[in-house]
Amino acid sequence: MGKLKVCGGNTLRGSLRVQGAKNSVLPILAASILVRGESLLRNCPNLKDVDAAIAILRYLGCQVTRDEGDVHIDSAAIVRRDIPDELMREMRSSVIFLGAILGRCGEAVLSMPGGCELGPRPINLHLDALRVLGAEIEEHGGNIICRAERLVGASVHLASPSVGATENAMLAAVSAVGETIITNAAREPEIVDLQNFLKAAGARIHGAGTPTITIQGGGMMRPVTHRIMPDRIVAATYLSAVAFAGGRLELEDIVPGHVTAVTDALRAAGCEITVREDNLQLVSTGRLRAISPVMTGPYPGFPTDAQPCLLTACVKSKGTTVFMENIFQNRYRYVEELRRMGADIKLEGRVAVVTGVERLTGAAVSAADLRGGAALVVAALGAAGETVISEAEHIDRGYDGIAETLGALGADVERTDDV
Ligand code: EPZ
Repeated sequence: MGKLKVCGGNTLRGSLRVQGAKNSVLPILAASILVRGESLLRNCPNLKDVDAAIAILRYLGCQVTRDEGDVHIDSAAIVRRDIPDELMREMRSSVIFLGAILGRCGEAVLSMPGGCELGPRPINLHLDALRVLGAEIEEHGGNIICRAERLVGASVHLASPSVGATENAMLAAVSAVGETIITNAAREPEIVDLQNFLKAAGARIHGAGTPTITIQGGGMMRPVTHRIMPDRIVAATYLSAVAFAGGRLELEDIVPGHVTAVTDALRAAGCEITVREDNLQLVSTGRLRAISPVMTGPYPGFPTDAQPCLLTACVKSKGTTVFMENIFQNRYRYVEELRRMGADIKLEGRVAVVTGVERLTGAAVSAADLRGGAALVVAALGAAGETVISEAEHIDRGYDGIAETLGALGADVERTDDV
């Protein structure tokens, strides 16, 4: 299993171009199934989750080639309409393929996506939305079998603004006959990026980024080229890393408006942040102040995916900071590892109380999930001595070349595989 070895204490300095967004490229790869021809995606990050999504596309019959950040998909011939267990297990968010396969083939069979490290990952909102659009769904032998002779546009109200359920409803509605109005839709920037891809392919869709998305379905989708938006969570991670370790970071190719919740928190903690059009600069002494309570929530609230790295940046702050995790049950698994490094964090259900300590000390720690693993890297950068992070493959699911990126900023980070 992969390991990252970090010698902490270096001040970080430099600029980096933010990679393409994992949580945008995944639904857009699924959406490419709806194009009966070629899609060219630019600025795709090199991630394990992208590899898993490409494996699913190839299994379904798509021709997929990669050239650096360009992914070329030819979906002219879809020969299968199921995703087998071994491919579903590679990536929990594979459920996002459901609406697209159903829309293209009239049937989709997926093995039930298990939970993940973050806790149970129910898909009731996805299935409810597809039923409203005319799908018949049965669960049998660990599989979800969806059939729809004809998907028909309808009013789809989401009980909660689920990102994945919004995306699945959009992808099914594009193939439905008539108008679909999705209400209480998720408003994340990745939903807007998906809409931009679909519009470029000829879909009649508007409203993404607001709670109401309207789709006139049934049109033919034509070949499309689309550039994936920058990854706001990766940006938040590197900003937190430099805030905690101390130094200066310039982020290029970022949408500052996508990370406002995070930059507001880092400014309150004492970082100097300047914003230009698609560029953002952070300066930090490394010694931060405690900040007012951070509550995670659907966009534009504070993103749950950025909670681990911001919480970590607070562990040496003067004072106490309270975090409330409102999205996932098991988002705090990395806290135990931070305690091994000397952090003072009390957990009570969804609440974490972080009391600043003078110093963190490097230790042997283990990544339990993607964002928790990234938080351990942030901690190691601001800790005295050496930290070895095992199960580092969790981190590779979402961060393209994290060791090289941090090394270029002056961090002492080395990837070592298990001996
Ligand atoms: C997306 O997951 C992201 N993944 C997650 O990022 C992100 O944390 C999450 O949105 C919230 O922003 C991708 O985009 C691939 P949800 P998703 O449906 O769509 C409950 C990362 O680290 N829920 O908005 O699965 C669910 O249990 C990943 O990059 C239901 O109850 O998130 C959770 O508590 C982690 N029933 C809440 O809603 C459903 O049918 C939000 O989930 C669906 C969700």
